[in-house]
Amino acid sequence: MSLRIGDDAPNFTADTTEGEIDFHSWLGDSWGVFMSHPADFTPVCTTEIGRVANLKDEFQSRNAKALVISVGTKEGLTPLESHKAWIKDVNETQNATVDFPIVEDPDKKIADSYGMIHPNASDTLTVRSVFIIGPDKKVKLIISYPASTGRNFFEILRVLDSLQLTSNYQVATPADWQNGQDCIVVPAIATADIPSKFPKGHTVVKEYLRTTPQPNL
Ligand code: BEZ
Repeated sequence: MSLRIGDDAPNFTADTTEGEIDFHSWLGDSWGVFMSHPADFTPVCTTEIGRVANLKDEFQSRNAKALVISVGTKEGLTPLESHKAWIKDVNETQNATVDFPIVEDPDKKIADSYGMIHPNASDTLTVRSVFIIGPDKKVKLIISYPASTGRNFFEILRVLDSLQLTSNYQVATPADWQNGQDCIVVPAIATADIPSKFPKGHTVVKEYLRTTPQPNL
């Protein structure tokens, strides 16, 4: 059975470009964004790794840590040697400083435990999976992109914002919501209780659709 939203994020211990980590301990109280890359030294992946490095402040301000796994490594190098050599290229070509861990997974056990290998796409390489993991170590989001499409990291940051608003303020976010726009009061809150919980005001569009200004602004 593949991993689903709400499941415990599988823990693992692994060597990474930043030293050995126990995934759950490394996350601590942070949110995690765990991403698979098909292979080192490939063009789309190179732009993605650089992008994540250049969004460091955005991840930090959301108390989120990025972690990357790539199972396709360069022949003749150990997985860690391959990752480290690739990071040099990423830093050079993407004007970046990669300082988040890239995990080695020579037997693909970690990639398998997250269902990152989709055998009908490739038996040996991962697709571009994204898992957002909450401080409770539960899976909050799963997205899979094909190898040929680089991820939209603004979307990943947007989902982090939405998840954190839900967790902190009991609001959901509507279609295409962007930071600063009105939110939706979750159905579990009775309309009579909205004024005390959302002092900025609210609108009852329908009994089941109540909006309020974004509470953390
Ligand atoms: C890339 O990162 O450019 C890539 C990797 C695997 C297949 C296609 C593209």
